[in-house]
Amino acid sequence: MTVREMHSRDLPALETLDAELFGADAWPVATWWAELAERPRREYVVVEDEGGILAYGGLDHGGETADVMTIAVAPTARGRGLGRTVLAELERRASAGGASGALLEVRADNAAALALYEKSGWRQVHVRRRYYQPGDVDALIMAKTLAAEEHSS
Ligand SMILES: CC(C)(COP(=O)(O)OP(=O)(O)OC[C@H]1O[C@@H](n2cnc3c(N)ncnc32)[C@H](O)[C@@H]1OP(=O)(O)O)[C@@H](O)C(=O)NCCC(=O)NCCS
Repeated sequence: MTVREMHSRDLPALETLDAELFGADAWPVATWWAELAERPRREYVVVEDEGGILAYGGLDHGGETADVMTIAVAPTARGRGLGRTVLAELERRASAGGASGALLEVRADNAAALALYEKSGWRQVHVRRRYYQPGDVDALIMAKTLAAEEHSS
């Protein structure tokens, strides 16, 4: 299993996986292209094995505070620590990019993601009431202080 940067050649596989995982909230392929075009401000990674992409995630390097843009694990690969692996990789890259903290946003009804974040040391700092429509689901803003890391360059 390898963790590596996402490339444009990954986009057809990612578009399919993203649609399977996020349904109506999935990013259109144009959004993926736009996100990759924003490198190095944006940084996306994938986890793959010989069968293809198992998990992916991405980051916005915003200076002091980085934002986790997305994180997802293929349904067949869940519960094996890949979510934790991707999140730790994003935290490491955020820190290497100079951030001292990171933020993310999660639906309040996403138990799996909340468990992953809480067990990885993230804490809720804000609630956006009824942010997700339809459904009146709150958005939880979570934060984590990152350990200082030497810049990779
Ligand atoms: C959220 C998600 C990324 C978790 O990925 P995963 O690879 O299954 O998670 P991990 O195996 O790394 O688990 C990390 C921790 O979270 C816990 N966890 C994961 N899924 C859980 C669930 N459904 N219920 C309760 N706890 C869960 C695990 O028990 C683990 O803790 P432990 O090591 O103490 O047991 C995955 O469910 C997913 O892709 N969901 C759909 C996309 C999504 O919602 N992304 C987040 C958007 S904010």
